[in-house]
Amino acid sequence: MPRSPATFTIRPLPGASFGGIVELPPGTDTEAAIAAVEAAPEAFLQAFYERHCLLLMKGMDAISRDPTLLVRLSRLFGPEVEDYRQTITASNNVHPDVPEILVVSNVPPATPRIPALPDPPLTADGAVPVQFPHRRGWHTDQSYRRPPPDISLFYAETPTPKGQGQTLYADGIGAYAALPDALKRRIEGLEGIHVAPGRNRSEQAVLAGEPPHPLQPREAPQRQPVVRVHPVTGEPALYLCESGQMDWIEGPLAGMQPGPHGDGAKLLYELMSHYTSPQFTYVHEWDVGDLIIYDNRSTIHSATWFDGDRHRRRMWRTTVHGNPGAIYDGEPKSWLPA
Ligand SMILES: [Fe+2]
Repeated sequence: MPRSPATFTIRPLPGASFGGIVELPPGTDTEAAIAAVEAAPEAFLQAFYERHCLLLMKGMDAISRDPTLLVRLSRLFGPEVEDYRQTITASNNVHPDVPEILVVSNVPPATPRIPALPDPPLTADGAVPVQFPHRRGWHTDQSYRRPPPDISLFYAETPTPKGQGQTLYADGIGAYAALPDALKRRIEGLEGIHVAPGRNRSEQAVLAGEPPHPLQPREAPQRQPVVRVHPVTGEPALYLCESGQMDWIEGPLAGMQPGPHGDGAKLLYELMSHYTSPQFTYVHEWDVGDLIIYDNRSTIHSATWFDGDRHRRRMWRTTVHGNPGAIYDGEPKSWLPA
């Protein structure tokens, strides 16, 4: 007789004001964990949204042996799991056997990506800096696309030792709700201008006077609402990035004085500093086999520095699309060649 699937429980994520940790009976392996979720998808998704769109699953190690398990779980979150072969991603950063997996790593053949150390490297009390602008790099995945993606699943195949290579997350629903009413009114209807990194349109590139790269039509900066209504829950969330993923030539905020010294920059700094303050943030120290599911429509995240000369780090990401919200209805994908 076939065994009935294990049942999961979702508890508040320790060390955070938002997010959940998925708990399963001792000895539940990765496939059984996925089967448990597939047996009760409504409850799983409901918990995901109720916990403000971040879940941690530990002990998912079998994904390293069978990466298709990550794609299988991803399909629960939306109609389209991105195939990176079709989306102009450099092939050395795509998993060789499973094209739905983006490899984020400093191990060849991937393009090494090691975030800079903050200045100073630690806070006065010796903790990891989290709050912008002490911590840089906060973003939501692919916000330079319209329609932007829904959800990312991020898996630790080879994490760094603890104390480095963390991922920081922030809760845009909680951060928006806590804004003073006057600031909520000020940002109503406002749009940010987002652009892919590496085009010399970042705050640092503009400050350094570096000439911007010519852009293909599919690389054009994209406007996104600063307050994004979550298409599933209807909750408003801050939707912003900072330096590297906003356009600091035309923006960062549409209709405001542009550039790093303009009124738009001042407001962005104010909003990002609030968004990343301690009550809305979570620091994740990775173990092998950890999987974090986060909603790009209502959270931001940032990677921290690690010692790439001493440590190999290999993380796998899938990206789920298909429910960006009514404001994107009928739009073609901005990032694909016409
Ligand atoms: Fe990211």
